[in-house]
Amino acid sequence: MTPVRVLAVASEVYPIVKTGGLADVAGALPLALKAHGVEMRTLMPGYPDVLRLLAGAAEIRRWPDYFGGPGRLLAGSHDGLDLFVLDVPHLYDRPGNPYVTADGVDWPDNGVRFAALSRIAADIGHGLVPAFVPDVVHAHDWQAGLAPAYLHYDNRPRPGTVMTIHNMAYQGKFARELIGTIGLPWESSFDVHGLEYFGGISFLKAGLQLADRITTVSPTYAHEIQSDEGGMGLGGLLRERASVLSGILNGIDIEVWNPQTDPHIAYRFGAQDLTFRAANKAVLQQQFNLDSSDEAPLLGVISRLSWQKGLDLLLEAIPTILAEGMQLALLGSGDRDLQDRYKAAARANPGRIGVMIGYDEILAHLIQAGSDALLVPSRFEPCGLTQLCALRYGAVPIVARVGGLEDTIVDIGEAGTSGRDATGFKFGPVTADAFAGSLRKANAAFHDKPTWRRLQLSGLATDVSWRNRAGDYAALYRGLMASSA
Ligand code: ADP
Ligand code: GLC
Repeated sequence: MTPVRVLAVASEVYPIVKTGGLADVAGALPLALKAHGVEMRTLMPGYPDVLRLLAGAAEIRRWPDYFGGPGRLLAGSHDGLDLFVLDVPHLYDRPGNPYVTADGVDWPDNGVRFAALSRIAADIGHGLVPAFVPDVVHAHDWQAGLAPAYLHYDNRPRPGTVMTIHNMAYQGKFARELIGTIGLPWESSFDVHGLEYFGGISFLKAGLQLADRITTVSPTYAHEIQSDEGGMGLGGLLRERASVLSGILNGIDIEVWNPQTDPHIAYRFGAQDLTFRAANKAVLQQQFNLDSSDEAPLLGVISRLSWQKGLDLLLEAIPTILAEGMQLALLGSGDRDLQDRYKAAARANPGRIGVMIGYDEILAHLIQAGSDALLVPSRFEPCGLTQLCALRYGAVPIVARVGGLEDTIVDIGEAGTSGRDATGFKFGPVTADAFAGSLRKANAAFHDKPTWRRLQLSGLATDVSWRNRAGDYAALYRGLMASSA
C-alpha cells in the first residue's frame, strides 16, 4: 500500500467544534483512513474552543499581518486527530457559532475568514510545512472551496485536489470586489471557468470548477445535484464535470455511537437485549414530559430546524400522530418560526408532543436509544447521519426518499425486490400526505411485534461504520496520485 498524505480542510471538526454532520465526517474520516495507509491532517480555524483544547499546540509559523492582523499556524493533536490550526484572532476569536453572530446573521467578513483558511491550505499544499507535504488537499464545503483555486492559479507543481460537497444549499457567495482583498489574480479568476457566479463569486463554485475530483456524500445525491433543481444553480457545471464526480456514503463513528457502551444513555443494550430499550424509552418520556406508556410508539427527531429538513411537514402530520396514538420527542434548533411552532404544538398537546429547543449531544444519544422510530422527512439530504445512528440503536428510521436517505434505508416494501432486509420506511414524494401515510404504515408494523423486531435487527446488522467507505476515499486519493505522477 503506497502511503498517502492528505491535508483535509474543514471549518468544523467533531469533537472540537460542531454544528452539523460536516464535523462528524471531518472528525471520523481521518481515524478510519489510518487502516488504509492514509495519513490525514486536518486544517481548521482557531476558534476559541479550538485554542482552548489545543493549548499545547506548537507554533510553526507566525505572520505580523495575515489578512489584516497577526496570525499563526499551529500544529497539535486532540483525541487522535492531527491538526493544523490557523490562529488569526481578528478573524476567528469570536464566541458561539462559527459562522453567525449571536443574532443568527452571517459574520459580514465570512468571505475573508474562509479565504484565509483556504489560502493557508494551499500554502501547506505547496510545502509550507516541510514535515508534512501533502499528496492531496481535500476541501470540505464552501468554507474550503478556495483551496483548490489558490493551488490552481499558482503555477507551481501542486498536490491533487478533492472538493467534497456536504450541502449544495451553502455556496459561499460574495461580491466580486472580494477578489481584490484575498490575493487571487483578478484577470484569470473572475471568469466563468473560475470563481465568477451570476456576476458575483462563489467559493463552492470555485472548488467545483477547479478541483481535480469532486465527491459528495451519497451516490443518489451525486445524481440529484446534476439536475437544475438539485444543483441549486450549479447543476450545469456538475453535468459538465460528471466524469470526475462521485458519491461516497458517509459512515458514523461506531465507538461514539455504540449502544453497548454509550455513557449517555440510561440502559445499555445490544441485539441480544433489545428489550432494555423500554427502560430508555421510559426515561425519554419523562425528560420530554410525555405520558409514560410502552404501547404508544415514540417518534424521535434530532435535527437542525431548517427548510431542508422538512420539519414543517411533520407539523402538518401531527394530527396523524395524535390519531394513531403515537408520541413525538423532538430535539432541534434553527429557524425561529419553526422553533415557535413546535413549542406551540407541545403546549397544545401535553403528554403527546415533547419539544426541546437547543443543541444537546447527550439527549441526542438518549433519543436514539429510547425512541421506537426516528423521523427524517428531508426535502433534500446529501447523506444524513441521524438515520445511520438510528439503525445502530434499534430505532426504526422513517425517512424521505431522497439523497443519502434513499441509499441507506431499505423500505419495508422493497426488501423482497432488492434482496436486502428491510430496515425502515421511505416515503415520496416529500409531502405531508405521503409522510402521514408512512407514519400510519409504521404504526401498524409497530403493533406487529415480530415485524418490528425484524426491522430493528436488520438495522442493527447494517454496516454503518466508516471502514469500507474510508477505503473508497483512500482509492480516490491513490487514483489522483497515479494520474498526476
Ligand atoms: P446536517 O449536517 O444536515 O445537520 P446530519 O444528519 O448529517 O445533518 O448531521 C447532523 C448531526 O448533528 C448528527 O450527528 C446529529 O446527531 C447532530 N444534531 C443535529 N441537531 C442536533 C441537536 N439539536 N442536538 C444534538 N445533536 C444534534
Ligand atoms: C450536510 C448534509 C448532511 C450530511 C452532512 C455530512 O450537513 O446536510 O446530509 O450528512 O453534511 O456529510
